[in-house]
Amino acid sequence: MSALTGKRIILGVCGSIAAYKSAFLLRELQGRGAEVRVVMTPSAAEFVAPLTFSALSHNQVYMEMFPDRKHSSAVGTWHIDLGLWADAMLVAPITASTIAKIAQGISDNFLTSIVLALRAPLIIAPAMDADMYIHPATTSNIAKLKERGVVVVEPEEGELASGLSGVGRLADVTGIVREVERFFEGHHLDLARRKILVTAGPTQEPIDAVRFISNRSSGKMGFAVASAAANRGADVKLITGPVALETPRNVRRVNVSTADQMFEAVAGEIEWCDALIMTAAVADYKVLNPPDRKIKKTEFVQGTPRIELAENVDILKSVAPRKGRRVFVGFALETDDTIANAKKKLVSKSLDLIVVNNPRVEGAGFGTDTNRVAILSEKDQDAVELPLLSKYDVAMNILDRILPLLPQK
Ligand code: CTP
Repeated sequence: MSALTGKRIILGVCGSIAAYKSAFLLRELQGRGAEVRVVMTPSAAEFVAPLTFSALSHNQVYMEMFPDRKHSSAVGTWHIDLGLWADAMLVAPITASTIAKIAQGISDNFLTSIVLALRAPLIIAPAMDADMYIHPATTSNIAKLKERGVVVVEPEEGELASGLSGVGRLADVTGIVREVERFFEGHHLDLARRKILVTAGPTQEPIDAVRFISNRSSGKMGFAVASAAANRGADVKLITGPVALETPRNVRRVNVSTADQMFEAVAGEIEWCDALIMTAAVADYKVLNPPDRKIKKTEFVQGTPRIELAENVDILKSVAPRKGRRVFVGFALETDDTIANAKKKLVSKSLDLIVVNNPRVEGAGFGTDTNRVAILSEKDQDAVELPLLSKYDVAMNILDRILPLLPQK
C-alpha cells in the first residue's frame, strides 16, 4: 500500500508549458490512492483547459477568486475550507512568478490564497526557462521557501520549450509522486528526536563601552543549518553572536556577544546535544581589561595607541573531552592551502567533519546567500567538493553527512 492511500491532496497547476504533465501527475496520485482536488492559476488555463482536470478528478476545478455567484453561497471562504481539507498541497508545475508571490505572501488569485491559508505541508516542483530559474531573484525566493519548510522537487536539466538547453524542465512525473510519497512516509523528518546544537555569526570583543573587535560573519550559514535541521524534525538550539537575522521556525535561539559568552553557552548544552555544529566565526583574541566606559582620545599619551590582546578560549578544543559519541562538526575559512589546513583542524579539534570554504571563491564566504564548500571527514579525510549551492542546500548536504554518524536510537 502506498503512503498516499487515503491522503487528500490539492494539486496546484500554474501557467507553464509543462502544465499538461499535471494531468499525468493527477492520474499517478489517484493511482496510489490519493484523493485529489485541482486548483489552477488563471494563466494555467491558457495552457490546459480546466475541463481536463475536472473530468479526471471528478470534481470541480478551483480557479476563480470570485466565481459566478449562483455556484456557491460560501465563495468567500473556499480557499480556507480547501486549505483545511488538505493533507498536503503539491504545486506542479510552479512558475517563477508564483514562487515569488508565495515567498512574499502575495495572495492575488485562488491558488496563492490557498497557499497562504494552508495549514498542511507544501511541496513544489518548479518548471521554467533556465535563465529564469538561475536568476538571483528566483534562487533567493526558492531558498526562502525551503527555509520555511517547503519541499522543493528540483527541476531537471535538458531541452527546454524555448529550444535552449539548461536546468528548468519539470522533474519527472513519477519522481515527483515519489517525493510526495516519501514525504508522507516521514523521510523528510529523518532528524526527529535528534538534538542539534548550532553556533552562528561572529563574536564581538569589546575594546571599551562603545567599540569592539569583530569579523565579517553574517550568520547566514549557521542560520541555514539551524533552519534545515529543524525542518528535518530535529530539536535545535542556536547560539548566535550579534547578527541581523530572523530566528528560523522551531529553533530555540540564545544570543551571545563575546567568545567567552559563547563558550559558556555551548559548554552548558554539550550534555544535551547529539551533534554540535560550530559555524560561528569566533574571534581568536579579546582585549585585555576593556573599561566599562568610552576611552577618550586624550587618554593615549603619545604616539600610536596600543590595545593589548589576550587569546580567546578555543571552544571546540575545550569541549572535546566531553565529546563522547556526539558528532562534532567544525567550519574552516581558509584562503590558502585550503584542504591541508582543514585536515589539520579536523584532527586538532577532534572533529568528525569539517566544512571548508575559501572566501576568495566567487559565491562563497561572508554575507552571500550561496556557498561553495568541501567537506572532509575524520574517517576518510578525502575532500568531497560540493558545487555552488544556496547556504540552505549546503546545510542539507552537511546534515546528510551527519545522519549516519549519529548513534542509533
Ligand atoms: N572555533 C572555536 N573556538 C575558537 C575559534 C574557532 O571553537 N576560539 C571553531 C570555529 O567555530 C570553527 C573551527 O573552530 O568551527 C575553525 O575555526 P577557524 O577560525 O577556522 O580556526 P582557528 O582555530 O581560529 O584557526 P585560524 O584562525 O588560525 O585559522
